[in-house]
Amino acid sequence: MTQQEPQSSSAESVWWLSRRTELLEIAARQLNAYVYDLQTIRQSVQRLRGLRSIDRVLYAMKANFNPDVLRLLASLDVDFECVSPGEVEHLLRVVPDLEKTRILFTPNFAPREDYQWSKDFGIQVTLDNLYPLQAWPEYFSGQKIFLRVDPGAGYGHHKHVKTAGNHSKFGIPRFEIDELVSLVDKAGADVVGIHAHSGSGIPESGSWGNVATELARIAARFPNVAVLDLGGGLGVPDRLGGTPFDLQAMDQALGEVKAQFPAYQFWLEPGRYLVAEAGVLLTHVTQLKGKGDRRYIGVGTGMNALIRPALYDAFHEIVNLTRYDEPATETVNIVGLICETGDTFGVDRKMPPSRENDVIVIANTGAYGRVMSSQYNLRETPPEIVI
Ligand code: LLP
Repeated sequence: MTQQEPQSSSAESVWWLSRRTELLEIAARQLNAYVYDLQTIRQSVQRLRGLRSIDRVLYAMKANFNPDVLRLLASLDVDFECVSPGEVEHLLRVVPDLEKTRILFTPNFAPREDYQWSKDFGIQVTLDNLYPLQAWPEYFSGQKIFLRVDPGAGYGHHKHVKTAGNHSKFGIPRFEIDELVSLVDKAGADVVGIHAHSGSGIPESGSWGNVATELARIAARFPNVAVLDLGGGLGVPDRLGGTPFDLQAMDQALGEVKAQFPAYQFWLEPGRYLVAEAGVLLTHVTQLKGKGDRRYIGVGTGMNALIRPALYDAFHEIVNLTRYDEPATETVNIVGLICETGDTFGVDRKMPPSRENDVIVIANTGAYGRVMSSQYNLRETPPEIVI
């Protein structure tokens, strides 16, 4: 595997500033747009390729299923994690020659038809509950399956995205492992992978080593396991100049676990890490307002396009690209055009005095941006432009 590239999200290195002229040109034609920089995705892939402990990287395509993004990742030998037949079908439409062995299908509380479909279609499926084995054991007879277990502790940037621990709906808990072993046996299934995904937007790298140890412990109960899939969740700094995820520390910890369990391949399935920093949401200032002690900058899109601030209180850098070089002397709230008070992109942000039609960048929106957009208020979903 290749040498690591330095990681950074500082103002000097960030692509949407170095490509500012191109973005301003795009903004001259579009009120709103998601713009993706493919080079940034290539760099993220390259950094993950530098991990010595990881044998395979799968992209969790729920983060961004733009066709150019999918084609790029496929061409870079990144494989795919899908959570619905719709994702698999979209992926195969966009990358028709993709071998099905490059797809892992990890549905949650899905209807039984999805399991039948994955069997007929020949896609590797992951079970994350005992129920399918209890209720439909015949579907799994003689079938190779992955099992998603709950490693016990959930992590992530918000309670909505912690996907392990007793208060999460995901994964087979440790106290059900004995029952799991006997259900697998009765169904005649063949467990080839053990999987966990603890949460999303995890800034610290410390949890993956523990997860790997836990998965290895569970894998020992099944003789044919070849893979420990450690899930995604790797965070990216949400602020310019923020501390990048410590890939080296994660690699070191995983390397130590791997040395104890050399029989297993280690897989990783990030979404955000591969695409978040590659995307920005471009918009324009529509109106300005002062009300009491507050100043508002209104922009041409809203929570219909990017719901993360409203849903998770997520922080996204917001920059006036037209006036990037001017001093940020005002404290403002940046709000959208949707009829809800929650339609606020940023609170108490420092911005230069802005004018109607100034171009605004909402950064780090390449993951869970456009894919979570809606038709709310029948405002346009911003188009996607790849540069
Ligand atoms: N694997 C599985 C089984 C997952 O459920 C997810 C994400 C991933 C991998 C990728 O996680 P990532 O590396 O992107 O953190 N909408 C939320 C994030 C939800 C993540 C859901 N599952 C957000 O905007 O923060």
